[in-house]
Amino acid sequence: MKRAGIVIAVLSAGFLFGCGQPQYTNIDMPPKRVKVIKDFGEDASKMLLKELKKELKTALKTKGPVGAVEVCSKKALEITEEVAEEIGDIKIKRTSFKYRNPKNKPDKYEAEALRFFEKTLKETGKLPPYYIQKVDGEYRYYKPLKVQNVCLTCHGDPNHMDEKLLKKLKELYPQDRATGYKLGDFRGVIRVSIPEDVIKKSCL
Ligand code: HEC
Repeated sequence: MKRAGIVIAVLSAGFLFGCGQPQYTNIDMPPKRVKVIKDFGEDASKMLLKELKKELKTALKTKGPVGAVEVCSKKALEITEEVAEEIGDIKIKRTSFKYRNPKNKPDKYEAEALRFFEKTLKETGKLPPYYIQKVDGEYRYYKPLKVQNVCLTCHGDPNHMDEKLLKKLKELYPQDRATGYKLGDFRGVIRVSIPEDVIKKSCL
């Protein structure tokens, strides 16, 4: 009984040691499966980040922060869908406890993943590189996002933000929670969902 308790405690902390590498997962998985899920998750999230950053930078330069907000709010979901289509059979979402758009609110599994990152960051001072969950017929790969300089324009201290931009954000997102961040803060995650059968096929 005592031993089972310890095993569960280790599992829920998300640390499993397979092949000398820590595994950040909610259930025990063969290292090969972790690798396949990681490859899918990293490909998709990197592609999304690259496209989003490119759009953001261009929009900030050519349209200023107010124009960039509109680009960002419309483009973010579009780009997300395009990336999902390109890789095929996957779903991508961005989420955070301090969300701007209520559509990005975390569900209970996402909340568990966000808590895992927050807790580990608090305890070790470091963000784990990923977290994998097995949930109802799919695997979810989570990539943590940190606040960089360019993010502060729209997610930083409201006292230092452009007034027109603040007004625009209030208009579009009356319940906005996504300000007050500092450089290096944990901002949220990209979630990549991959159907279980896709992973099983790739693991043969
Ligand atoms: C030009 C302003 C702008 C900049 C710069 C910006 N964002 Fe955002 N961000 C937004 C808007 C607008 C939304 C809401 C998008 C939507 O409607 O889905 C958003 C949403 C998000 C979300 C989804 C969760 C939520 O709050 O709804 C994350 C995560 C996020 N941003 C992270 C970042 C990161 C990381 C950076 C820097 C690399 C960044 N943002 C830079 C405007 C911006």
